[in-house]
Amino acid sequence: MASMFSHKLPNEHLYEGILFFGFSSPETLDAVKDFQVRDDDVFIVTYPKAGTTWLQEIVWLIMHDGDFLCAAKDPVYFRCPFLEFKDTVLNEVGLDLANSMASLRVIKSHLPVKLMPRQLFQNHKGKILLLFRNPKDLCVSYYHFYRSSSSLGNFHGTFHEFLHMFVEGHVDHGSWFDFTRSWWSKRHDANVYILFYEDMQRDLKQCILKLCEFLNKPLGENLVDKIVQHCSFESMSMNPMTNHLDVYSINSKISPQLRKGIVGDWKSHFTVSQNELFDKIYEEKMGDLNIPFLYEL
Ligand code: A3P
Repeated sequence: MASMFSHKLPNEHLYEGILFFGFSSPETLDAVKDFQVRDDDVFIVTYPKAGTTWLQEIVWLIMHDGDFLCAAKDPVYFRCPFLEFKDTVLNEVGLDLANSMASLRVIKSHLPVKLMPRQLFQNHKGKILLLFRNPKDLCVSYYHFYRSSSSLGNFHGTFHEFLHMFVEGHVDHGSWFDFTRSWWSKRHDANVYILFYEDMQRDLKQCILKLCEFLNKPLGENLVDKIVQHCSFESMSMNPMTNHLDVYSINSKISPQLRKGIVGDWKSHFTVSQNELFDKIYEEKMGDLNIPFLYEL
């Protein structure tokens, strides 16, 4: 594995031991810790490629009583700011965008517990939705994202190389294992709610109904059905407000943001020996946690 870490992220840096590229600068990461949380904030916290955009669209619609008109005018990445990220087109950090936003805010972050706004834990302000996805499919999705994204330096390596970077945490936002361990320990906090990507695939309506309950947003059955329809993979792929085709840094000809949207794509990427290696590493690092990931439906 001579070329294991040959891939460099643009302006990469380590912050408290975690790898980031330049759009999440040390100054921004410092400021995130002091971010002023409001009681009615909803944070969507995921490791990259867990299905964040999917949940953002769903939760924004729940919190805004199914305002499809507004959702049709404004891209999801403007409606739900990405806390620790500064985009060159936007020229604004997600946390500044969030600061200037009226309530009810839906805020996205990929940070582990130790880097999140302190107020979330000090006085349990705001609600936190954690979305997890089985790490094999997530790794495959991240690999294709790395290939297509100029922000991540247009990765030209093989899946084998990427898999090693992934298990070593040598990717943007650091180790999936550390991220997941840190958040799993918070799962019983009163303001934390856990979802799994695979459950959303199995029964989206049921997931949305439960989310509405947690968010204290009882919506009529018709509205929930409309959200289910609006947030199907097909609808979101066709919808310019959610498909990210306008995001300059993603070359959708290489791989679109909404790529396949299935459970089990890892089987067409992992060799038998890569799978065995992954299972071994997973067992060593996470075995004691018994997180009920599903690798196929
Ligand atoms: P794949 O690359 O496996 O297709 P994120 O938003 O965190 O970057 O996650 C992107 C992943 O979520 C992609 O996975 C994408 O296809 C999937 N996704 C996005 N919207 C979806 C939807 N409506 N239904 C199912 N999967 C969706």
